[in-house]
Amino acid sequence: MNKKVALLPGDGIGTEVMNSAVKLMHHVSKKYDLTIETTESLMGGCSYDAHGTPLTDETIDICYQADAVLLGAVGGYKWEDLEHHLKPEAALLKLRKSLGLFTNIRPAKVYPSFVNSSSLKEEIIKGTDFVVFRELTGGIYFGKPSGYDENKGFNTMVYEKYEIERIAHQAFKVAQKRKKVLTSVDKANVLEVSQFWRKIVAEVGKQYPDVKINNMYVDNTAMQVVRDPKQFDVIVTSNLFGDIISDIAGMITGSLGMLPSASIGEKYALYEPVHGSAPDIAGQNKANPIAMIGSVAMMFDLSFGLQDAAILIEKAIEKTLDQGYRTVDINQDGGNLVSTDEMTKKIIENFDTIFNQK
Ligand SMILES: NC(=O)c1ccc[n+]([C@@H]2O[C@H](COP(=O)([O-])OP(=O)(O)OC[C@H]3O[C@@H](n4cnc5c(N)ncnc54)[C@H](O)[C@@H]3O)[C@@H](O)[C@H]2O)c1
Repeated sequence: MNKKVALLPGDGIGTEVMNSAVKLMHHVSKKYDLTIETTESLMGGCSYDAHGTPLTDETIDICYQADAVLLGAVGGYKWEDLEHHLKPEAALLKLRKSLGLFTNIRPAKVYPSFVNSSSLKEEIIKGTDFVVFRELTGGIYFGKPSGYDENKGFNTMVYEKYEIERIAHQAFKVAQKRKKVLTSVDKANVLEVSQFWRKIVAEVGKQYPDVKINNMYVDNTAMQVVRDPKQFDVIVTSNLFGDIISDIAGMITGSLGMLPSASIGEKYALYEPVHGSAPDIAGQNKANPIAMIGSVAMMFDLSFGLQDAAILIEKAIEKTLDQGYRTVDINQDGGNLVSTDEMTKKIIENFDTIFNQK
């Protein structure tokens, strides 16, 4: 199998964690008879410095040609005072829009060696493993009319049928590969748009009779995620609710440096860590590469259909953490402090060990 991957390392630690991702990606692909051709391009502050814009048409074209896009992170102090549309972060929105990435997927999985560092008690957090599907290109962030004057401010939450159907299909398909429980989160007791959301999810659900649907109000969901996170398997929700729920879900399970994500559309897919460019530690070989490596695992699963590779990468991360290796951001328990490169090397070694024991 041959695949093309566009690499957008970006700024700050984006370039460092991208190095880790690329090493691991090529290493793993060889074991699965997969040839990956990569094309690297500038995006963010580095692109502004070189071309006067944070995202060139050429970079977007490279992404259009690829089977998957890997993104590090963009931004930094140097570009903070630029006009809004020239800021590195503006490139993120433009790229997601250009690629039609309408679903953001964030796993909330707790690694056994981290159960003590969560803000939740061990018995509550232990065994937590769910995924949040957040609608990314619709809802109240984009609905018209919107605006404000001296007397009022207003936004519009609107969802078209096709927008709900396409994310629901993605979420049901993943639920089928997991514990077969889909929680659809809304505010149907108050909002008509949520009543419509619920109705369409139920209709789509008829095509997935093996998946159980739970409808849950968003306020209750926020409470349940911290009260009993183990009850969840796959959560699907709108843009605004997903923004909040995915942040809560992410932070109960780990630090920023540990959280991967995927953004998927009809044709394109982009994988990136949740964290930013961390200018405070950039260039020091201190960044935690696990979020980026976890994003590569998601790419193997969702874009290349190699779920087995994704599971083994996850296990290699878990084993490395169990062995006590820690980057600076996760060393609260005084483990064996390692650099970005060393952490990457250990994860690759552990991948080999686990792969050979298969
Ligand atoms: N998707 C993206 O590219 C993205 C996301 C968020 C922020 N940003 C941008 O990144 C820049 C910095 O933003 P910020 O400081 O608010 O957020 P940040 O995520 O870059 O950093 C927050 C804190 O977490 C630490 N941290 C983050 N990732 C880490 C990792 N992998 N390993 C170790 N420590 C890590 C940082 O050192 C910092 O102390 C800004 O320009 C912001 O706009 C970009």
